Amino acid sequence: MKNTKTLVIGANGQIGKKTVKLLADTGMAVIAMIRDQSQAESLESLGAEVVIADLESDFSTALIGCQNVVFTAGSGASTGLDKTLLIDLWAAIKTINYATEANVQRFIMVSARGADNPDNGPERIKPYLVAKHAADFVLMESELNYTILQPGRLLNDAGTALVQTNRPTEASEQIISRDDVAAAIVHCLTSSTTDRQVYELFSGTQTITDALS
Ligand SMILES: NC(=O)c1ccc[n+]([C@@H]2O[C@H](COP(=O)([O-])OP(=O)(O)OC[C@H]3O[C@@H](n4cnc5c(N)ncnc54)[C@H](OP(=O)(O)O)[C@@H]3O)[C@@H](O)[C@H]2O)c1
Repeated sequence: MKNTKTLVIGANGQIGKKTVKLLADTGMAVIAMIRDQSQAESLESLGAEVVIADLESDFSTALIGCQNVVFTAGSGASTGLDKTLLIDLWAAIKTINYATEANVQRFIMVSARGADNPDNGPERIKPYLVAKHAADFVLMESELNYTILQPGRLLNDAGTALVQTNRPTEASEQIISRDDVAAAIVHCLTSSTTDRQVYELFSGTQTITDALS
């Protein structure tokens, strides 16, 4: 892992920054993909190299020379359905295609709980879940070595490093801290037991290693 380069897409995001920091702290080469030069300094101070690219353009060159890709970008709840299509669906699919062309060895996708069956989710986020479902499907059909993480509702609480992959019955318990998602991403990058696996992810009682075995 020390000799590999990891590109984090969505690096200025909340999970993105935590992932960049964890990777840099363990001595791994990390490239933070951001869309705004003014975000560069804070990511460089975490130990990342920075590449500036917009997900709505051709960003294929950002993946060249990278062995690992983490996709943790998202259009966010305050944008319209156009951005759901352009970022959560199309930018994710473009990343899968670019990663295939660039012979990427590991691809970690941050998807969402409920992406397996959008018809079962809340009506108001159904288009988002459809976008996530379709991107996950394209990745599963690809030849890439992937891990898809489908976390529950994200919290900014401190991480516990204790998780579970079984979905709790109560919607209020279908939650997880961004710290723990970032730790799970790093685990997936360094463990072959998660190859070509899909996991929902919630706060729980198991270590990340045990839960994702
Ligand atoms: N919120 C939840 O409860 C929840 C639950 C499950 C899964 N998820 C998923 O978890 C992931 C990460 O969540 P988060 O809270 O870390 O998200 P976040 O803080 O909103 O970060 C998303 C990142 O995507 C980047 N991005 C958006 N459009 C872009 C573009 N055109 N070009 C380049 N970058 C672009 C944003 O860049 P800027 O910083 O420049 O805006 C931002 O840094 C997302 O995929 C989300 O769908 C969220």
